[in-house]
Amino acid sequence: MIKDMQNEILRLKEQNDICILAHCYQGHEILEVADHVGDSYALAKKAAEVKNKTVIMCGVRFMAETVKILAPEKTVILSNASAGCPMAEQITADELKKFKAENPYCAVVAYVNTTAELKTLCDVCVTSASALKIVREIPQKDILFVPDINLGTYIKNNVPEKNIRLMDGGCPYHKTATAEDVKAARAAHPEAKLLVHPECSPEVTEGADYIGSTTGIMDYAKKSDAKEFIIGTENSIVEHLQFECEGKKFYPLTKNLVCHDMKLTTLGDVLDCCKGEGGEIIEMSEEKRLAAKKCLDEMLRYGG
Ligand code: 13P
Ligand code: SF4
Repeated sequence: MIKDMQNEILRLKEQNDICILAHCYQGHEILEVADHVGDSYALAKKAAEVKNKTVIMCGVRFMAETVKILAPEKTVILSNASAGCPMAEQITADELKKFKAENPYCAVVAYVNTTAELKTLCDVCVTSASALKIVREIPQKDILFVPDINLGTYIKNNVPEKNIRLMDGGCPYHKTATAEDVKAARAAHPEAKLLVHPECSPEVTEGADYIGSTTGIMDYAKKSDAKEFIIGTENSIVEHLQFECEGKKFYPLTKNLVCHDMKLTTLGDVLDCCKGEGGEIIEMSEEKRLAAKKCLDEMLRYGG
């Protein structure tokens, strides 16, 4: 049944000139039919390069919006219309406008996990993979980082030469991981390396063996000589790594680290999108797109 659906998706993709982009947090059966799988930065870069007429983004809304902003001539479909990122909507445009008016000297650096509307007010975007490089390289010293306080703290600790002000947002799922989870997982798997996403709180990232983006975590685990790993990011990464790394063992840091939005997309949704029947076609006014594009262009320019 799964194979039949996958074969039909592959056939329709070819027939209808569709490219499927999938974030690493998607299910394994979806990654298997994707043309490109990656973290937010890799997917944003692909979005700007893809040749196909239609792009299906298997991920969450801000990722599909990023594709539309960078590739306006394409039909961009979000695989499941309900898949948002709660963090992306944590601050309003009015709050950000107020801050900018009060602090005109600050550059606004936004995590790419923001709405298109917020992006229109930001100077540069970053992803977890590109944040340190970009914040080090931009000329401004005074920065407001929005909205993730954990990624912001990680940047602040690693780029002490900049004055970084933070807001109190964050990923509701990554925030659930605690120091107690680290202690329990280390005790249960004393030989394992702890690999975590910078969206986790400082009490979790502090003693980690590696901190990085979803792709960064996967690359580290694949290349490492170690045989066991505790994974401190969305739990689908545990499954993907277990499929890909024979002879290695992967354990979730906590069972709570499941992103309900990333999990909304099913293979059936992807099939419907390929038939032109499902998902949501992303529409955006040209004015908003151009205003939001500036900070993504800056991200790609500084991020390399
Ligand atoms: P990455 O940029 O590491 O893919 O992270 C995206 C995300 O939403 C993590 O929760
Ligand atoms: Fe957003 Fe968190 Fe889900 Fe990532 S894991 S998409 S930050 S809610």
